[in-house]
Amino acid sequence: MKKQSQWKSSTGFILASAGSAIGLGAMWKFPYMAGIYGGGAFLLMFLLFTIIVGLPLLIMEFAVGKMGQTYTTKIYEKLTQKKWLNIIGWNGNLAVFILFGFYSVIGGWIIIYILKVLGQLIGLSSGNLSSIEFEAIITNPWLTIMGQGIFILLTMVIVMMGVEKGLEKASKIMMPLLFIFLIVIVVRSLSLEGAQSGLRYILQPRIEDLSVKGTLFALGQSFFTLSLGTTGMITYASYASKEMTIKTSALSIVIMNIVVSVLAGLAIFPATEAFGFKPADGPGLLFKVLPQVFDQMAAGSLFYFIFLILFLFAALTSSISLLELNVSNFTKNNNEHRARVALIASVLVFIISVPATLSFGSLNDVRIFGLTIFDAMDFLVSNILMPLGALGTTLVVGQLLDKDALKESFGRDRFKLFSPWYYLVKLVLPLVIILVFIMQLI
Ligand code: TRP
Repeated sequence: MKKQSQWKSSTGFILASAGSAIGLGAMWKFPYMAGIYGGGAFLLMFLLFTIIVGLPLLIMEFAVGKMGQTYTTKIYEKLTQKKWLNIIGWNGNLAVFILFGFYSVIGGWIIIYILKVLGQLIGLSSGNLSSIEFEAIITNPWLTIMGQGIFILLTMVIVMMGVEKGLEKASKIMMPLLFIFLIVIVVRSLSLEGAQSGLRYILQPRIEDLSVKGTLFALGQSFFTLSLGTTGMITYASYASKEMTIKTSALSIVIMNIVVSVLAGLAIFPATEAFGFKPADGPGLLFKVLPQVFDQMAAGSLFYFIFLILFLFAALTSSISLLELNVSNFTKNNNEHRARVALIASVLVFIISVPATLSFGSLNDVRIFGLTIFDAMDFLVSNILMPLGALGTTLVVGQLLDKDALKESFGRDRFKLFSPWYYLVKLVLPLVIILVFIMQLI
């Protein structure tokens, strides 16, 4: 009896945190980053960082959540009795707020594509999928602002109604379906003429393509896909019961993230080469390449439409948890003001997301340290706030928390992994993060 219920709750925990972690990061951002920073070399660095740095940090965040059992702008105080350390939670809160701002730009693109493809399917517009003009869409201010507005609105309504549970149930079907679709796209993409060179591009690490910058972005990508440093994963683990095994949960999420990232790469790069696109095309890569692949399939428009719905779903399970973090921090887990806080947070997110959208069009000239507004927001979150948040938590865990209590949270330790993990988090990883930070400044 006991075993059964334990298993059930662990699965729920894994599904919910996987739904939150797996989103645009693996499917959209990974191929876009890999295409700019050296393909196979980027993939290799991303894998190394995800396993050596990401996995132990994810276990750390789960351990903290499981120990603290409260919302993240309070949890550090609760664990250490030092109020000022809540700043790590607020750093995460700021990170998810800005993250939602630029996430919604891409969510908006998905919605616009859904509407365009729907238009073609019901005969409102003609042409095939490849005729959908990406540049014309992203430079159209009203269209993109409407798209991201709908994305934020959808997220808000779901959070306000508190129907996340229903969504988690749906994700049991939607996520595996998305996975199957990805595999189908990979197969089609690999069978295109000229796919070989794209396959080589993403799988073969060419060390000469590895730059310091690419290495830094590979680390940023690991943080981004695993939601590290934003306290999102701490929140999920704070609902976990004592029996839950955080190690296997963390490992499952890491593996799922890697698999989806690699599949996205295998779906996109062979087709990129086959259709004569440049891998370093930037944030639009997925949106430009995939319609071409679907155009090569029977009933391609219909399948592309379904794929986009699944993709939107994956993005929404993430954006909901982004908004939810803000809501739970400001309502302090008290549901009374939930709707109002969700509304205010969404409006604020919408306001900051507008310049991010416009930076693909009329505000493209505005540069912050040489980056567009969209890129600057992404950089601030992925390369600064997330690593800072993770660094703060490693210091708390390594220097302030009681080792025995941590060990208990770590759970049953058949393979004697606690000590290596503990010293990695206490001594090595803070130095790695600091080193990366210094390199970034130079
Ligand atoms: N990991 C998410 C993705 O890949 C993005 C993300 C980062 C996130 N931090 C988060 C999502 C916190 C929810 C909560 O798309």
